[in-house]
Amino acid sequence: MDIQDKIKQLIDYRQEARLGGGEERIAKQHAQGKYTARERIDMILDEGSFEETDMFITHRSTDFDMEKTQYMGDGVVTGHGTIDGRVVYIYAQDFTIFGGSLSETYALKICKIMDQAMKVGAPIIGVNDSGGARIQEGVKSLAGYAEIFQRNIMASGLVPQISAIFGPCAGGAVYSPALTDVVIMSDKTSYMFVTGPKVTKTVTGEDISIEDLGGATIHATKSGVAHFRADDEDEGIMLIRKTLEFLPQNNLEDPIITQSNDPIDRLDDNLNEIIPKSSNQAYDVKDIIYTLVDNDDFLEFHRHYAKNIVVGFAKFNGRPVGIVANQPNYLAGVLDINASRKAARFVRMCDAFNVPIVTLVDVPGFLPGSSQEYGGIIAHGAKLLFAYGEATVPKITITLRKSYGGAHDVMSSKQLRGDVNYAWPSAEIAVMGPKGAIEILHGKEIREIKDIDEQKTFIAQKEAEYVANFANPYQAAKYGYIDDVIEPRNTRFRIIRALQTMATKKDTNPPKKHSNIPL
Ligand code: HXC
Repeated sequence: MDIQDKIKQLIDYRQEARLGGGEERIAKQHAQGKYTARERIDMILDEGSFEETDMFITHRSTDFDMEKTQYMGDGVVTGHGTIDGRVVYIYAQDFTIFGGSLSETYALKICKIMDQAMKVGAPIIGVNDSGGARIQEGVKSLAGYAEIFQRNIMASGLVPQISAIFGPCAGGAVYSPALTDVVIMSDKTSYMFVTGPKVTKTVTGEDISIEDLGGATIHATKSGVAHFRADDEDEGIMLIRKTLEFLPQNNLEDPIITQSNDPIDRLDDNLNEIIPKSSNQAYDVKDIIYTLVDNDDFLEFHRHYAKNIVVGFAKFNGRPVGIVANQPNYLAGVLDINASRKAARFVRMCDAFNVPIVTLVDVPGFLPGSSQEYGGIIAHGAKLLFAYGEATVPKITITLRKSYGGAHDVMSSKQLRGDVNYAWPSAEIAVMGPKGAIEILHGKEIREIKDIDEQKTFIAQKEAEYVANFANPYQAAKYGYIDDVIEPRNTRFRIIRALQTMATKKDTNPPKKHSNIPL
């Protein structure tokens, strides 16, 4: 063979590898509304930036006559490329080869790029579309998964990890995405569960469809496993790229500041009117978020899950921030188990990757009741408290309206090392709301008044006194718990200036092996 023949052979090999499991299986993949592994990678990365690794790897299995069926690449495409010019490592499971099932060598390929990503300090993107452990490989496949899990754990908080689920992801395989920072599921074409419908039926008798057990809607609304439910793979791919805009390459870098054309001193007069007259009336906190941030651009995480708290990324004068906001429009913005878990995880992700946190507070308290107490709201609420208290990134807090009781402390209060704590004049910062307070303080007197009208007048008068004296921002401001009371329409400017000032903030936690967050 002369060199020309050898080059021709290389080109042929490459072509063969790029065909994965063959044209028929590719057509089947397309017919299901799915892209192939290589198509996905090409769309995720900047054009022409993909460098594929281990294209010629094949499996080593000889059981079940497996040596007779070999595919180059063995069911997963791995390598690196760039997104907006920044290096990322990526793997995409190739369903056209053995249903994307994981073999020993397939796991080695993934581990290789994960190790390199950690050394280089670059994000890792995993695209999941797989029948799980390759049955023919038995325990070697289980070991392969565990090798990946271990690396997911080591990479956690070191480099951003994003998982896209664009097909099946079942059994223990679900734990790799679950260990990563962001999970994106494509609607109708993906599912995740630890045990599928058949086993569920056998063990529990429950008859349930794949979609109802582990489809994108379930995980985006009920379990909270998925941060995003994308309408289709195209939207999922856009979300991968968009998420990385707000994150640095690794924990030692800051997120990239971009040029913004949205004026920093834009006054938003509507904010002066946005809080309803009645303290019990709802409004949509997202209207406030969209008004404040650059160019109405807010990437909301967990949009359909625990809607009483809103979290997501945005920019202020080009500087990425994480936003956490109570949502008065849903359950009056109360903190419950799911809201606490959702926000706690988001706060920790921001802190791990040096993303400042802007918190908008309007919280009546924690949701009362046995279901919350039995479900462990004490431990779950503590997660959010812990996450805020442990975070060392700049923390800017704006109290819009209610900030009552324990929830006041939790929501990035001054004593949890809040750096800049502002309140609107509409803020009500107190131990509890007027109704509860008057009932406790004057219950006996109220019951002694027999005339109903007289009773009502008495309650109204006491409540008004309480509001005037306690349900306002000035008690807290008097003690320095609030740094300033600001005019709502100036909020964007005040946040931007606070973020600029805090940009060089240094804070640390005492040295220790790790904290013991109440998981
Ligand atoms: C080997 C597999 C495979 C697997 C699919 N294939 N799953 N090969 N190991 N786990 C192969 C099929 O034989 C078939 O090969 C091709 O992939 C496509 O599969 P189909 O069944 O034709 O596709 P479809 O109808 O779309 O169904 C997809 C599926 C189904 C729902 C994922 O294949 C399935 O149920 N697979 C088994 C899932 C499973 O039980 N996995 C183990 C879970 S336990 P041909 O040659 O015909 O194209 C697990 C433990 C992980 O994963 C533990 C980690 C700690």
